[in-house]
Amino acid sequence: MKIMVVGSGGREHALAWKISQSEHCGKLYCAPGNPGTAELGENLPVQAEDVEAVVAAAREKQVDMVVVGPEDPLAAGMTDAVRRAGIMCFGPTAAGARIEADKAYAKELMRSAAIPTAEARIFKEFRPARDYVLSRDQGVVVKAAGLAKGKGVFVCPEPHMAVRPLEQIMIEGVFGDAGHAVVVEELLTGQEASILALCDGRNIYTLEASQDHKPIGDGDTGPNTGGMGAYSPTPVVDEAMTCHVEREILVPVVDAMRRSFGRYEGCLYAGLMITPAGPKVLEFNCRFGDPETQPLVLRLKSDLVEAMVATCRHRLEEATLEWDPRPAVCVVMAAGGYPGSYEKGHEITGIDAAEGLGDVKVFHAGTAWRDGRLLSSGGRVLGVTALGDTIAGAQKRVYQAVEKIRWKDCYYRKDIAEKAIKA
Ligand code: AMP
Ligand code: GLY
Repeated sequence: MKIMVVGSGGREHALAWKISQSEHCGKLYCAPGNPGTAELGENLPVQAEDVEAVVAAAREKQVDMVVVGPEDPLAAGMTDAVRRAGIMCFGPTAAGARIEADKAYAKELMRSAAIPTAEARIFKEFRPARDYVLSRDQGVVVKAAGLAKGKGVFVCPEPHMAVRPLEQIMIEGVFGDAGHAVVVEELLTGQEASILALCDGRNIYTLEASQDHKPIGDGDTGPNTGGMGAYSPTPVVDEAMTCHVEREILVPVVDAMRRSFGRYEGCLYAGLMITPAGPKVLEFNCRFGDPETQPLVLRLKSDLVEAMVATCRHRLEEATLEWDPRPAVCVVMAAGGYPGSYEKGHEITGIDAAEGLGDVKVFHAGTAWRDGRLLSSGGRVLGVTALGDTIAGAQKRVYQAVEKIRWKDCYYRKDIAEKAIKA
């Protein structure tokens, strides 16, 4: 098969890496890809958000399956357009992507299907939102309703702390259209977990659980990012918890979507808080997680292309996925300053030495080749990922690998997977 992966981040390098190992993968294209995917296939000068250009490239290259990584093109209807061109596409339609792209819609869908989630109110104007938060006596979470690259969520342990984010989103418009509405919800406590499932519209196939680390600082301090590291499996989710999440959350939401618009096909990501009252949904995403995908592909022993094709053909009941029992840990190396402003263009060294340790894979995210040198070119730059016999072993190995990699002002969290080791 000829397969095209759309996107240019760490998740797309990880998916492309796994796809390229499939016996079904003849030729691999990435649109636009990154220096990591360039080693696996051909990068095309096509932007991931450019639906028409992706469809044109898929047609020209006679691609058999397009795999869409990021949420923006999914929300913009890339799957719909690729399928209209008669090409198989892994990823939900625009109607399906709304579960991530519109948090107010997602809340209403959850409410209609009695899916456990934080109590929430939705506001379109600043004053009522401000009056509401100031009337609360417990912490709140303020979320821009639209797509904001994981940065539109403000956790406010004291209600008055919510006023400034509301001003930023609703008055200053720092997230543009994504702030047209705001969700204000109760602050939940517990451990977080990410549960991803392949969905063909009727069947689901739950992948191994993982845990992300969203805040920039050690000990979960500072502003939220796109994700600073992840590991899998996580002790927070045992088999009984997985069954509970399937029964109470994943199956009901897929059914609710079928009633709402039809089949949800692709990967569905449930971001959960495991509270004392059971798991509650923090968010749904319409795609694989970044960086959760990096440790997951390192552990996946089965053919990902077969599973993706089974999903697209509505034959998920035929799929089985085998996993390496060994845990994997991914540490995201970022540019100093991220998620605020940061510098680009610094030379990166040490990737070969890191991978030379064995059971280590370095996934590229924000990198670029220029004049024979590998440079940083984004906020999240690399996802260094390692397997180990235990989580502590994988953590030790991943940090050994991280220490071999350098560029000016690089930053990473030093405590990825620590919660699992202390648990
Ligand atoms: P989201 O993008 O909605 O998953 O939110 C990003 C992060 O904010 C989550 O991973 C949590 O760490 C935190 N968060 C979101 N909603 C809540 C909530 N209701 N209670 C506590 N923390 C939350
Ligand atoms: N790791 C969080 C996300 O993919 O949205």
